[in-house]
Amino acid sequence: MVCATRAYLAPSAADMLVLLKPDVTPEQQRDVEDYIRSLGYTPHAIPGTQRTAIGITGNQGAVDPEPFRLMPGVADAIPVSQPFKLVSREVKPEDTVIDLGQGVRIGGPELIVAGGPCSVESREQILSTAGAVKAAGARMLRGGAFKPRTSPYDFQGLKGDGLKLLAEARAATGLLVVTEVKDVESLPMVAENADLLQIGARNMQNFSLLEAVGEQRRPVLLKRGMSATLKEMLMAAEYIVARGNRQVILCERGIRTFETMTRNTFDINAIPMLKQLSHLPVFADPSHGVGVRGGIPGGASRRGRRRGRTAHRGPPPSSQGALRRRAVAHLRRVRVAHDRRPGRGAGRRSDDGRGLSRGAPLRVRIRRARKLEGSVEVPGDKSISHRALIFGSLGTTPFHVEHLAPGMDVRSTGDCLEALGVERKPGPDGAVTVRGPGRLHAPGRTLDCGNSGTTMRLLAGLVAGAGVLATLDGDASLRRRPMARVLEPLRTMGARAAGTRSGSEERAPLVFSGGALSGRDHLLRIASAQVKGCLVLAGLHAEGPTRIREPAPSRDHSERMLAAFGAPVRVEPDGVVVVEPLSRPLRLPASLRVPGDPSSAAFWLGAGLLVPDAELACPGVDVNDTRTGFLRVLKRMGADVHVEASGTEAGDPVGTLRLRGGVPLAGTTIDAPEVPALLDEVPLLAVVASQAQGATRLSGAGELRVKESDRIAQVCAGLRAMGAPVEEAEDGFTVLGPARLTGTRIDAGGDHRIALAFAVAGLVADGETVIDGAEWADVSYPGFFAELARRTGGAVDG
Ligand code: S3P
Repeated sequence: MVCATRAYLAPSAADMLVLLKPDVTPEQQRDVEDYIRSLGYTPHAIPGTQRTAIGITGNQGAVDPEPFRLMPGVADAIPVSQPFKLVSREVKPEDTVIDLGQGVRIGGPELIVAGGPCSVESREQILSTAGAVKAAGARMLRGGAFKPRTSPYDFQGLKGDGLKLLAEARAATGLLVVTEVKDVESLPMVAENADLLQIGARNMQNFSLLEAVGEQRRPVLLKRGMSATLKEMLMAAEYIVARGNRQVILCERGIRTFETMTRNTFDINAIPMLKQLSHLPVFADPSHGVGVRGGIPGGASRRGRRRGRTAHRGPPPSSQGALRRRAVAHLRRVRVAHDRRPGRGAGRRSDDGRGLSRGAPLRVRIRRARKLEGSVEVPGDKSISHRALIFGSLGTTPFHVEHLAPGMDVRSTGDCLEALGVERKPGPDGAVTVRGPGRLHAPGRTLDCGNSGTTMRLLAGLVAGAGVLATLDGDASLRRRPMARVLEPLRTMGARAAGTRSGSEERAPLVFSGGALSGRDHLLRIASAQVKGCLVLAGLHAEGPTRIREPAPSRDHSERMLAAFGAPVRVEPDGVVVVEPLSRPLRLPASLRVPGDPSSAAFWLGAGLLVPDAELACPGVDVNDTRTGFLRVLKRMGADVHVEASGTEAGDPVGTLRLRGGVPLAGTTIDAPEVPALLDEVPLLAVVASQAQGATRLSGAGELRVKESDRIAQVCAGLRAMGAPVEEAEDGFTVLGPARLTGTRIDAGGDHRIALAFAVAGLVADGETVIDGAEWADVSYPGFFAELARRTGGAVDG
């Protein structure tokens, strides 16, 4: 049998300790603890006389110290080398002193002695022994009311009656009582009568008992198991402390060795070792170690059974500095990339449960459609909607935004902005009025960007520019997406920002903690409107100009909208975006109507191309060139599609898209320079390509592997499952058409565009296509399936 011990240790041991500054404020400490929770781990505050430290449990791998080092109130984040953390000296250099009441403080300078019989046998026995113990100068009485002996047939204690006798002895002598708790069931009864709960040697690894004593607040005396190593003992203590009970005293009571002349071998070495490794007090029980009456000089004076124990005192034998140096060296040796694989994130925080990324699971069935016609008004453009809200926060006057994208992504942006101090008032038909606060506030909570990469990356620039302390997080899919692309350039501008490292990549959660920004020249490695938009926002609050050059033009809504609002943003003839500092709040127009989303319209055009004799119009759609690459590709394939210009909105051209179906399509080639302008339409184009004559080749689209899902893999797998010949490449694919598609089950895989694209494929497939996870469509296009059902005369069942 294989036993994966580490996985069973929950909460698992911490690997890092966050040391707080002496003047840390309660809010700063709370921010650190919240951040630890946002990683899915558990913070444990360990107050000390010199400093407070926060230990972390629940992590399965190394924790990245960088984000912590950026947080106000944090002195340092240091790796901890031992598997036991919360009880280790690395975590807390000074001794823990446990106050049992009546002036008895264990672990302090005073030597505390406890004495008493092994078990409570009678009233007379315990009262007379207690008197002797008291007279000898001891402060505590020990005696077992519950007594697990080596042989189960031996006397096992007076139980409840024994507890009553101990209470009587306590009252008579003023001694504190230490007695054994044998099992979870008797814990409440023992805890009521004991000043110190003893966990016996046989129970040192009874984890359910350790859990139970960890969850209550009586001090615990943890005896070393007869064949337990010190590490095992400290792990057992850790297990108790991790549950919140920090009052643990360790007890060396002798271990089993080959020696037969004594009952056990008192391991005197254990005491300095435990004191070196742990801040917990240590009790020495030499009498138990010997286990024979004559072995305790003068100790067995009454009835030969009284046993003495002493609490060890004195400084730890090793210096903290040396320990810490060892810890750091250890970390360097063992540190492994903190890889946040899909399963981990998803397991820790379910997207389903949070209600933000999507609604209840939905399965949609699609059949071949015979007709599709009419005029479809698509939802407001997602990219422009995000920007309208974010740019609205840069002004101080009410900014009314109509026809805002209704999906979850834009809602995430609005929620985060509200947490930053932006006023948001909903209006009719999805309209919203926002008003910036002048200066953004530090949000009191983690900014949840849900499933939206645009929210996270744009807000990264906004928050860095505002210089506020903020943590940005998202769902499992967003936590997998690369964020170094925004963090690295922001840091070159002076932002204090870090993500959770995994190799050379950084991922959410992201921590921002201010830092004055200065303008820089950025040469982006990838054409990304989110990265560009992030740096534009940071540049507006930096000193001096910021210049951004992209390898190919990505969508340019940020530049157009900001320029239209009078912000100091311009595009030079060579395509370089130049941003000057914004010296006053942005002068916003009173209102803006968001044009229709071309990426949503694309699904209708795709559907129109696959359904016989379809005739469609999508009015009021954004037709910015940086978004309509898919129209150019469709035209090249032979589609009868064209644009009728109808005006402009916030610097963007708007028009009606018209399509007449029923024309034969031919395969085409799409290379890297064309990709940014059709980035989000690739899944749909792949479906259309499966119905075109010949091969359609896509290359230079590696970015699609790090979208809401690995879209290249998802598209290829889905089309193949439906019967289309597809060849997958690292940065694209080849689809061979025309293919006869057969309905099958497609999992949206947490990606709205996959759900929508395969719904379109279902309109031309034989049999039934079942989309599992169809609710993901709500991220960008709520209501799509209902509209499709209406327009196709019932090719869709929800
Ligand atoms: C977006 C940019 C694109 C796109 C995304 C929205 C934006 O990503 O895929 O859906 O609004 O800036 P890139 O950052 O890769 O360009």
